[in-house]
Amino acid sequence: MSYKDVYEGWKNDPDTFWMEAAQSLDWVKEPTKALSDENAPLYEWFKDGQINTCYNAVDRHVDAGNGGRVAIIYDSPITGTQKKITYAELQNLTANLGGALEAQGVTKGDRVIIYMPMVSEAIVAMLACSRIGAVHSVVFGGFAANELATRIDDATPKAIIAASCGIEPSGVIAYKPLLDGAIEQATHKPDFTVILQREQLTADMVEGRDLNWHDFQKDITPATCATMNGTDPVYILYTSGTTGQPKGVVRPTAGHIVALNWTMKNIYNVEAGDVFWAASDVGWVVGHSYICYGPLFSGCTTIVFEGKPIGTPDAGTFWRVMEEHKVKTFFTAPTAFRAIKRVDPKGEYVKKYDLSNLNYLFLAGERADPDTIEWAQDQLGVPVVDHWWQTEIGYPAVCNPAGIELMPIKLGSPAVPMPGFDMQILDDEGSELPKGELGAIAIKLPLPPGTLPTLWNAEERYKSSYLEAFPGYYETGDAGYMDEDGYLYIMARTDDVINVAGHRLSTGQMEEVLAGHPDVAECAVLGVKDALKGQLPMGFLCLNAGTEKSHEDVVAECVQLIRKSIGPVAAFKLACVVDRLPKTRSGKILRGVVAKIADGEDWKMPATIDDPTILDEISTALADLGYPQG
Ligand code: COA
Ligand code: AMP
Repeated sequence: MSYKDVYEGWKNDPDTFWMEAAQSLDWVKEPTKALSDENAPLYEWFKDGQINTCYNAVDRHVDAGNGGRVAIIYDSPITGTQKKITYAELQNLTANLGGALEAQGVTKGDRVIIYMPMVSEAIVAMLACSRIGAVHSVVFGGFAANELATRIDDATPKAIIAASCGIEPSGVIAYKPLLDGAIEQATHKPDFTVILQREQLTADMVEGRDLNWHDFQKDITPATCATMNGTDPVYILYTSGTTGQPKGVVRPTAGHIVALNWTMKNIYNVEAGDVFWAASDVGWVVGHSYICYGPLFSGCTTIVFEGKPIGTPDAGTFWRVMEEHKVKTFFTAPTAFRAIKRVDPKGEYVKKYDLSNLNYLFLAGERADPDTIEWAQDQLGVPVVDHWWQTEIGYPAVCNPAGIELMPIKLGSPAVPMPGFDMQILDDEGSELPKGELGAIAIKLPLPPGTLPTLWNAEERYKSSYLEAFPGYYETGDAGYMDEDGYLYIMARTDDVINVAGHRLSTGQMEEVLAGHPDVAECAVLGVKDALKGQLPMGFLCLNAGTEKSHEDVVAECVQLIRKSIGPVAAFKLACVVDRLPKTRSGKILRGVVAKIADGEDWKMPATIDDPTILDEISTALADLGYPQG
């Protein structure tokens, strides 16, 4: 079948399409229908079905006689270790950890936060939670204690599972003090924590609260798989919105399994036994969908890679992993390739390895620039497939479906809508725009299975953030256009979310933090183009009258403040002090104009600007920071 046939098949009869996709899974009770729309615009999928996530990721492969197949390859160039875990071993590991959590009182529906680096135990922890029906919420290790505390208060977890440390090229990062700080800061207190002590750094334990990962699993009764309703949440994943309060994206159990399982063959073209590698982090949605769940649902081998594209130990590390583990489909963010290309522009490292097993490179998380795509194509000799999705959606919405039909690749476009996604370009009034015209990217409701049904404890915020701007549509927050062939082009965000090295960050949140500095009267943060990370945040600070500190000191303190409040992942290092911020007469800060000046792009003086001379001051400040860049 062609892409067109499959897409039309879905469009003509979505219920049959998704019920067929549901057939390849193991249900406790099969659903009688796919969509329930009685609460529209809130939609539910496989509502009367019953199923378990861990069973479909692990046990069913063992029950089918494939327990000896490798489920996880942990490859950690940063620690010099490797480990393989079969499906049968993974079943035991999840049953034991699940049983130990149950013995401590964790039951169905309880939340468990996971704060771990890229170790295989992070995947075991996620699966153990879904085995017993606990709702996990993984927090990325590069976030600071404050961010962890916000999530603890929102998710109110019964337990937190963490590692003693993560390992970055800069050295060992102690996680436990961050965890202790976060628990102290949070209003909600977990009943207990579970700490995986890593040999690189042993954490101090709090008596009566902290349990040792290994010790607390001794002599417990292994957990069986809990029967979950199709619409029960399997996890919450926080993502950046426009304010300091992150959005808790809820993932529903059944739709998640059905949709991810469908994507593995139809999009990534892998099947049971194939090796699939997503070089991301368990803290992001890519890690949830394509390091943990997707590959395991379909019986693939997944790779947990603890390293960086360069420097661990060199720019050939990706190719070494691909050769050694016979990776068939590889997925990462364009920034990783930009990092490699910068160090090894001629691809000397690529030539050293046998990449004959590799069939595709998939890129997502940020705009894939044509230069990077072409370089990757030349070096690897495989199709480079850009695809578009977001945390809320959970899997590719716009893509070139390699497993159905590899459509012609158009540089700069993540290609065409996948079944389930009726993508539309809307004007400000919500009318559908003709082909070629730029507008807001929206998806006609209902969203397909596995996408967010709501935000955790924030249904009104869900409606106001996504459903109210364009009634009948989900607002993606991206702007772009569609060409005559139905290919989508993503041009920009319509909100103040920026994308730094494939990491989604909120400039609004950074402004909130900076405004908390005692010498800062007013500030603006915006994203400027960066050749490696795609974008970097840049801060403009107006100081209180009479501030005695030097500008350099305030800037240095602000850089530290963001690092401490949000985390190193924010990569906030560019800031300057200015007398005034450019605003419209009604007081709106003209961030877009400043970003254009910083990026060296053409810009127009806004008719509504209050005082055009401020832009000269801003240009001078930008020049001092080295912007626009060469
Ligand atoms: N735990 C603790 N700290 C972390 C961390 C983690 N899990 N992940 C990142 N950090 C820290 C880094 O050490 C760095 O700190 P520093 O300011 O002290 O150097 C900071 O956060 C920024 O990290 P990163 O974004 O990784 O930038 P980098 O300059 O170290 O590396 C790249 C640049 C391009 C090599 C890197 O961003 C990369 O590998 N990107 C791949 C893209 C990706 O995985 N995207 C996920 C979505 S698909
Ligand atoms: P996240 O929720 O972290 O996955 O970030 C989602 C956002 O990243 C999207 O809304 C886009 O702004 C951006 N994004 C993701 N994939 C792509 C892509 N292939 N091309 C352009 N932007 C992308």
